[in-house]
Amino acid sequence: MTKLLTIRIPATSANLGPGFDCMGLALDLWNTFELHQGNGAGITVESHGEGEDVLPNDKSHLVVHTMIEELTTFIPFNPGHQSYHIVCRNEVPCGSGLGSSSTAVLAGLLFAHAVLDPHGFRSPAGSARILNRAFEIEGHGDNVAPALLGSLVIVVGRNGEVITHRITLPPTRVVVCVPRFHFMTSHARSVLPLHYSRNDAVFNVGRAMLVVEALRNGDASLLSRAMDDRIHEPYRLPAIPGAIEAKRAALACGALAVTLSGAGPGILAFAQEDHDAIGQAMQSAFAAAGGLSARYWVLDVASSGAQVFV
Ligand code: HSE
Repeated sequence: MTKLLTIRIPATSANLGPGFDCMGLALDLWNTFELHQGNGAGITVESHGEGEDVLPNDKSHLVVHTMIEELTTFIPFNPGHQSYHIVCRNEVPCGSGLGSSSTAVLAGLLFAHAVLDPHGFRSPAGSARILNRAFEIEGHGDNVAPALLGSLVIVVGRNGEVITHRITLPPTRVVVCVPRFHFMTSHARSVLPLHYSRNDAVFNVGRAMLVVEALRNGDASLLSRAMDDRIHEPYRLPAIPGAIEAKRAALACGALAVTLSGAGPGILAFAQEDHDAIGQAMQSAFAAAGGLSARYWVLDVASSGAQVFV
């Protein structure tokens, strides 16, 4: 089988406390997607690594689904002529709050645009188109934008376009602890209120700005005081058994700031030292208080987003 393209896309942690739906961080844990010439049977897929036992191997697979949807908005899709085989090598745990589905959406879009416009899809205009489409599909851009651009990205929608601002960070290391708990993003969004008070809005706006400045400057003291949230965490943490205790355990173990990773169930802890001890403390808390087994990763921020190798 002829390999046409390989794409690596990093894990991401969205929200970062007060930045609900508006900011995210790329992490040094990668899903790799290969596009091969197919054998005339449409688009087929196989998955290895994280999720290999649960991910579908037909056209309902998110990479395949997204690629076909995107292709068919531009050209009639003919499975005999447009035949590809996709190989997914996954390091990002599925359903963890680390943006695994965003990596799949981006891979599907990048593959579709690579097929449609092999020379243009990597241009700035091509990337902007892909980001806009990913934002439309996801409904928010706080995973897809850092996955595409790397580092810390602020992202907002404006009249059908997406505004992003990428911020380079000093070396930053986090611990992410992911319990074995099914917490669908759609459910995690459904538990949120439709309206918030002015006090809560002000609480979050100020802290979101401070978190950006703290991360940009590597200001540990500011980060530890600013990373707090009233939009999503108070509603989601209690729904994840042991999450409140895991957050408390990480802080007691010396983490600077601890927050839900995206919509969860993973917990993200910023720390300057003792990363393994913090990961183990969160694991123990999930087991003791929530009866859940958990895994943890010590990860650096990824300065690069999606990488394409032809
Ligand atoms: N900002 C999103 C949320 C991230 O918290 O629901 C998950 O996709």
